[in-house]
Amino acid sequence: MSDQENYQKVCEVDDVWEGEMDVFDVGESEVLIVHSPGGEIRAYSPICPHQDHPLVEGELENCVLTCSAHLWQFDAISGKGINPTGTSLTSYPSKVEDDCIWVVLPES
Ligand code: FES
Repeated sequence: MSDQENYQKVCEVDDVWEGEMDVFDVGESEVLIVHSPGGEIRAYSPICPHQDHPLVEGELENCVLTCSAHLWQFDAISGKGINPTGTSLTSYPSKVEDDCIWVVLPES
């Protein structure tokens, strides 16, 4: 199957306002949707790559996502670590279509 066929609906775009992030159940998985200031929408694994803390408990400010556990910071658009560098969020392919957010999850 192509990625096109593997897209699963996460939520409506209006469910995550610009400048906010939230976690949604998609099948057996959870997905963190980040709607950055400026309108970019990204889908990530909801767990911090540092020590498995839920990222949704952190903050999103100026396109920087900060984990609440030990304040690691990530670029909300690229997913790359800002502080520290050399790490990154696990991102999933996503798209906006029909006013909804769609994601391709890894095979489990
Ligand atoms: S668990 Fe996220 S910064 Fe440590």
